[in-house]
Amino acid sequence: MPLLDGTVAVVTGAARGIGRAIALGFAREGARLALIDLEEGAAAQTAREIRELGGEAESFGLDVGRRGDCDAVATAVAAKLGAVSVLVNNAGITRRTSITGDARTVSEDWDAILAVNLSGAFNVTHAFLPALRANRGRIVNIASIQSFVHLPVPTSIAYTASKHGVLGMTRALAAELGKEGVRVNAIGPGIIETNINADTRSKRPEAWAKLIEHTPLGRPGEPDDIVGPAVFLASDMSRFMTGSIVMVDGGYRTI
Ligand SMILES: NC(=O)c1ccc[n+]([C@@H]2O[C@H](COP(=O)([O-])OP(=O)(O)OC[C@H]3O[C@@H](n4cnc5c(N)ncnc54)[C@H](O)[C@@H]3O)[C@@H](O)[C@H]2O)c1
Repeated sequence: MPLLDGTVAVVTGAARGIGRAIALGFAREGARLALIDLEEGAAAQTAREIRELGGEAESFGLDVGRRGDCDAVATAVAAKLGAVSVLVNNAGITRRTSITGDARTVSEDWDAILAVNLSGAFNVTHAFLPALRANRGRIVNIASIQSFVHLPVPTSIAYTASKHGVLGMTRALAAELGKEGVRVNAIGPGIIETNINADTRSKRPEAWAKLIEHTPLGRPGEPDDIVGPAVFLASDMSRFMTGSIVMVDGGYRTI
């Protein structure tokens, strides 16, 4: 039997990259999908692809940073797809500004990154919490190698802080919700080739090469590399796991 048969799963940031791959992977495992993204048109395209492959998916436009809008989307998802039992908090952004750079830019980037990567995950979790508690749900948060380390190439302290926060939130939620049977885990991707690092690849090839050189498996990851671990954490395969982080980083943190 498919591993996510009978599951209604919400994936944020599902228009492209890692979120899109997870959504397609969950659909292959029998889940019905609610695809959430700031870019509604692109999320609708992912939903169409899933339906063309015989799956079930609906798309919803949402800025996860807007708390009130998250509640409204949770209501809309329940009306269209029914009770949600899996949530993947994947939507994320980065900007590459140094703390020693222009003061206004640094502080704007701090607010923007924390609003999406950390508060966004909180907002969406809070909006779907009643459904997740009622259904002994599973939450999978997309953290990062930057939940542990800062990168040796241009990145931002806000991104590193946000991903440390995502890991902390994963542990706190796991502790608070475990007795109710809600499991909360994280995935820590390493260097995965997506839109989020397109600029680094095209404008700073030497920085990209440095990251790949640091990765024992010697290649960047692909969005599809995240799918197996996500299915694992969303399914009963991981039924005695909560508060954990599964690193999918080609060994990045071993060096
Ligand atoms: N690519 C990597 O190397 C890497 C490594 C570690 C962690 N991650 C994390 O993986 C997640 C997915 O990133 P990706 O690499 O697929 O990047 P991506 O840019 O390809 O995809 C991010 C998606 O999130 C959406 N999004 C952005 N802001 C949003 C908002 N406010 N509300 C709703 N949706 C929003 C975007 O429209 C996009 O579809 C992010 O949380 C990112 O931090 C990525």
